[in-house]
This record gives sequence, structure tokens and C-alpha cells, in this order.
Amino acid sequence: MTPTPAEAPTASQAVMDLEREYLLQNYSRYPLALRRGKGAYVYDLEGKRYLDFIAGIGVNALGHAHPRIVKLIREQAALLIHCSNLYYHEYQGPLAKKLAEVSGLQRTFFSNSGTEAMEGALKMVRAHGNKSDSGKIEIVSMDNSFHGRTLGALSVTGQPKYRKDFEPLLAGVRFVPQGDAAALESVVNERTAGIVIEWVQGEGGIFPVSVEYAQKARELADRYNALLIFDEIQCGVGRTGAYFAYQLTNPIVLPDVMTLAKPLGCGLPIGAIVANERAASTIGPGMHGSTFAGSALACRVALEFFDILEGLLPSIERVGGYFRSALGELARKHSFVKEIRGRGLMIGMDLEIPGKQIVLDAMAAGLLINCTHDTVLRFLPPYIVTEREVDVALKTLSKLFSKQKPVGQTA
Ligand SMILES: Cc1ncc(COP(=O)(O)O)c(C=O)c1O
Repeated sequence: MTPTPAEAPTASQAVMDLEREYLLQNYSRYPLALRRGKGAYVYDLEGKRYLDFIAGIGVNALGHAHPRIVKLIREQAALLIHCSNLYYHEYQGPLAKKLAEVSGLQRTFFSNSGTEAMEGALKMVRAHGNKSDSGKIEIVSMDNSFHGRTLGALSVTGQPKYRKDFEPLLAGVRFVPQGDAAALESVVNERTAGIVIEWVQGEGGIFPVSVEYAQKARELADRYNALLIFDEIQCGVGRTGAYFAYQLTNPIVLPDVMTLAKPLGCGLPIGAIVANERAASTIGPGMHGSTFAGSALACRVALEFFDILEGLLPSIERVGGYFRSALGELARKHSFVKEIRGRGLMIGMDLEIPGKQIVLDAMAAGLLINCTHDTVLRFLPPYIVTEREVDVALKTLSKLFSKQKPVGQTA
């Protein structure tokens, strides 16, 4: 029977219904189906506009349909999308050179995602440990960290809720409390092959690592011949207003290995392991690889992105500062806001109340944000965001916050 117009599902509803029937039910998506985007805005299937302050969880660094990226994708797609790693193409080398110039780490391996970059980094750690003696297999990571969903990355993810269904994971992983340098010192020893730090915990609620912890990790990695790995998959490549978040500290603590992904391809899947010579030498011919990784298309887009990023770094810092101080003002008016954390355009607002309904209400009001760890509103707007767009987001948040009941007041 043909449905009457009143019964006909919307285009968005039809998309959701079909997915419910045929997709693995692993995501709890928001009820929103998107068709297109322009700058910092996206549009759903019914044409409604949303200000995008989550940007594909930090992926859409230049927002949507950036003219230079669109032009270049068109051009490169007509030339060569992919040729496998059996052959060379023109863009892996220049992109790796660029990464070396901006990071101080000499060699790159390209991956397709963050978790795949972590897997490669963990293989470096294992190969490094195996070179010394067979007992050197321990890896130290931090509580509350998030490193990805594959088995290796999960093994070093410091949140039992993600690991519990997939045990046993990698043996020899030890976790230390967030930022506790003394605890780190107490667990690192000759058997430690790697120390992993998520430089700014993103999924964990926007917690930057302390300089003291990073310095201690460097000192211990040197003392015990372990590799120091910084996961900058969410906080790296401009997000904090520096090329990499570790460059914001004084003095700078350099890792042996850094993992990158999210913003690197402006929406195309590309990640990277960037390593110094010592760490890179652990991987010899045939020891690692990936069919799709480092395609001509993704690498050329990432190169173009770096070209644009250089000019954007000051505005990431400026607009991010503007956003944080305005959120601070909002916080002063609402006692349920506990803390604002972050740097550049990676910002968390810690609440004393659950954030989920605020996220849903913001969406209904045309603003996309997300909530992590139940109470932390996470803002990852695109790097091209302006103060005016920040004002629009703030106006929406301010309205929604005014409707919340003060903490302690029951319904
Ligand atoms: C810090 C960090 N590491 C690793 C990952 C995993 O990246 P991917 O989802 O691309 O595998 C994420 C993803 O959210 C992340 O934020």
C-alpha cells in the first residue's frame, strides 16, 4: 500500500530506517542525516542548516567544501587516486618531508586512520623491545586515555569500558593515573619498551598532559631505552594552534614516535606515524605495510592542507582564545559549569549535569557539538571558524543554559 503523504517518512527518516535494518548496530548516532556542507555549516536532507562545531570529531579541519581542497580533489581524481605501495607517486615524499620539517622527526609511515597509526607505533615498540632482549615487552600508558578500537590500540587505551569485551589484549600493558609522574616512575623499568601519552586526552574529556609528566616520561624512556610515543591523533596538526600540541610547552619535549590522523586529510582517510631515526630503524623491509595507505589523492590533499594551515595557525589561537574566554563568561553565569579546558580550537566544558540533552537541544537549535564522558561538552570547530560564528554558537548555548535548572534543584 502506498503511504499517504502524512505517513510518508522524511528523507532523513528513510536513511535511518534502512541503516537500522542493514548496518551493524555499533553506533548510537544522533537522529540527523547530512547531505552537504559549506564552510562551518552543514545541511541535513531536508535542507536545515547547522553550525558545525564538532567537524567530524576533528576531521573536517577546513570545514566543508573548501574551494582549494575541492579543486585539488577534482584535479587529482582525474589523474591518479591510488597506485598501491608497489610503486612511487609524487606526493608521499613531499608530505613526509613537510612532516619532518614541522615536527623535527625524520621519517613517516602513512596509514588510513588513527588506530592504524597506533598499531604501527606499537609494532615499533615491540620490535624495539625484541632487539634488546625477549623480556622487554612492557608498555606504559595513562588512565582515561583513548587510542583507538583495534586490538593493539585498545590494549593501551586507559578506559576499561572499551577493553572489557575484548580481553585478553596485549600482555604487559600497565596504566598509571592521569599525569602522575611519580606513579610513572614507579612502573617504568628495564622491561619497558614503550611509554604512550595521549598529549591532550580528547575522548577522555579534554585533559592536556602536564609538562612534568611528559618530561618524566622522556627521562625514563632515555634511562630505560624505551620509545616515547605521543598520540596526537586528535590534538595534532593545528588543532591547538601549534602544528603539534607538544610544541606548546616550554621546554619542548620531543617524542620518538608521534601518531597523527584526524585533520590531516581534511576528511579523506589518512593517518601517519612520524618517527625519529632510532624508532624508524625498528621497521625493516617487509615488516609493515598497508594497501590503501598514502594514496596520491590523500597525500596531495594533506600537502595542500599544510600549505593553508601555516596561515591559519594564528587565527586558531586567536579564535580559540576568544571562544574560551566567552565560554568562561557563560560559566560564571551558570553554577552547573565546573571548568573550561583546552587550547586553540580543542575545548571541553565540564558540567555538573549530564550533557546529552544539551547536545540534542543544541542540534534542534542548529548547533552541532558533542558530549564525552557524560558531562563534558566537546567543541572541535573547523580551523576556518570565525569570531562571528563563535558568537552564533554562544548565543545558542546561552539560551539553552538559561533553561537548565541550577544544580541541586529537583524537578
Ligand atoms: C587520541 C586518539 N587516538 C586514536 C584515535 C583513533 O582514531 P581512529 O578513529 O581514526 O582510528 C582517536 C579517535 O578518536 C583519538 O582521538
